[in-house]
Amino acid sequence: MGSIARGLAPNLGSRPSLPQTTGSEGAGRRRPVGEFFAWLHAPSRPALFSPKAGWKPALPPAHISAPLFRTVPLELHDSIRDQRLAVLRETFFPRLPVNTPLTLELGCGHGHYLNAYAAAHPEEFCVGIDLIGDRIERAERKARRAKLANLLFVQAEAALFLGALADLPRPAAPWLARVFVLFSDPWPKRRHWKHRVLQTSLLDTLDPLAAPGAALHFRTDHPDYFAYALEVVAAHPRWRVAPPEEAPWPFEHVSVFEERALAGAPQSFTALRRRAAPPDGDISTGPHRPV
Ligand SMILES: C[S@@+](CC[C@H](N)C(=O)[O-])C[C@H]1O[C@@H](n2cnc3c(N)ncnc32)[C@H](O)[C@@H]1O
Repeated sequence: MGSIARGLAPNLGSRPSLPQTTGSEGAGRRRPVGEFFAWLHAPSRPALFSPKAGWKPALPPAHISAPLFRTVPLELHDSIRDQRLAVLRETFFPRLPVNTPLTLELGCGHGHYLNAYAAAHPEEFCVGIDLIGDRIERAERKARRAKLANLLFVQAEAALFLGALADLPRPAAPWLARVFVLFSDPWPKRRHWKHRVLQTSLLDTLDPLAAPGAALHFRTDHPDYFAYALEVVAAHPRWRVAPPEEAPWPFEHVSVFEERALAGAPQSFTALRRRAAPPDGDISTGPHRPV
């Protein structure tokens, strides 16, 4: 954590404001509605119906209305995505320590688990990622109160974050030691499985970022999602499910979501990235220490 001591510790109070979640990202439901009501009650809003406008309704601008209806015009979707990428590249990634393995939680919610984890593992640098801005703000407040210098949160879609991380120039870019996916939305309907955080494309994206032996910890109270996740890992050439004796669960802390899930029977596994020699360009061939 030398780099943190040298002053690269994040300024948790200055989180850049990110463009808000779109409906197509699934989980950003509260914020778009809030924005709509803010527009509705704004003193500057034009009259909803007026003779001047030919009695046509005054509609909110597209960036407010589109997320409400989950049909985001392609160009709006692209511009939100581009803005988020710019924030990640220009503001967020420079705050990450160099040459320190990262511990990520994808879909960190209010950050209960990751705050407790980071406090118990000061030697690791943790990053929590979630789609929902309110949750990220709450997570950051906890980290600030606990004065944790080894923890950052960012509002982003998990795949977007990882894709942007993978685009950073090697070998100075951060690499991953541990990734948690805890109680992520199960999306029970088959046609929605593409929204699940753990799927083959996630393992593909993690592969070049993860050190050999890096761990992916998955926990859910949804039996079908658990079985699906096991299958996805078992079918992947670069990851394998490790028996608990080999990779015990690293840390227990009950989050609000876990508390709700305890009525069910949460199940967990740890997948390890295989240590086999990677193809050219893989970071494990670089100067990084394997975990
Ligand atoms: C049920 S909560 C679990 C939170 C936390 N992991 C815990 O155990 O307390 C799932 C979280 O994942 C977030 N999420 C869902 N899909 C996501 C994605 N593709 N990228 C980032 N966050 C996502 C949601 O916004 C939500 O906060």
